[in-house]
Amino acid sequence: MEVVIVPDATAGGELIAEAIAALLSRKPDALLGVATGSTPLPIYQALTAKVRSGAVDASRARICQLDEYVGLPAGHPESYRSVVLREVIEPLGLSEKSFMGPDGSAEDVQAACEAYDKALTEAGGVDLQLLGIGTDGHIGFNEPCSSLASRTRIKTLTEQTRIDNARFFDDDIAQVPRHVITQGIGTILESRHPVLLATGEGKADAVARTVEGPVASVVPASALQLHPHATVVVDEAAASKLKLADYFRATYAAKPQWQGL
Ligand code: PGA
Repeated sequence: MEVVIVPDATAGGELIAEAIAALLSRKPDALLGVATGSTPLPIYQALTAKVRSGAVDASRARICQLDEYVGLPAGHPESYRSVVLREVIEPLGLSEKSFMGPDGSAEDVQAACEAYDKALTEAGGVDLQLLGIGTDGHIGFNEPCSSLASRTRIKTLTEQTRIDNARFFDDDIAQVPRHVITQGIGTILESRHPVLLATGEGKADAVARTVEGPVASVVPASALQLHPHATVVVDEAAASKLKLADYFRATYAAKPQWQGL
């Protein structure tokens, strides 16, 4: 995988927004997989600025969701559908019709998972999948020991993830759902270009295990090592435990610009 070390979260957001812009100029109706959480927000802000300035035409872009809580009432402000509508769809001036995601309030959750996995394939597959990383190494909500071949399915959140996400629920862990629907690791690996952004000291350990550790389901993000075109963008703090940081810096500095991410 390619590791790009950037000075800070804003620079990471800008770099990834440029990659999305390049994708949309070659494929205007690209299917862009979006992630939630705090980390990707600078990407959406940078992309929105490009769209508003006329530098990028995102009008035909299609957006799909990575994961969703199970059991939140439809329209709950912290359901990931609501978050993506608020942070991505509305700022980019897209309509809900261009957006697909799993139904976290379905009565038959298993059927909803299978339907979503199939819908992604039928839509032609995800062109660029944005990912964050959990402090426990999860991608999407594939918690440690998720099958590396997993498809979209229901998962139970670890206590650590529920603690991490309580900040979105009035700091009250009791309000954080226990179950989620997530694209599986096998599903994520089918995207043409997974791009993981990690920022802050709190992610340094998970990043080091992802990039420099063995491929192991106990660190779900390490599965990205199996993808022929995976990019990991990290700020200095998140890169602080990488033994090969200087090598990654030198490689990126020497990369021909035409290659993009
Ligand atoms: P965060 O979440 O960006 O809010 O840290 C990342 C994740 O859990 O994937």
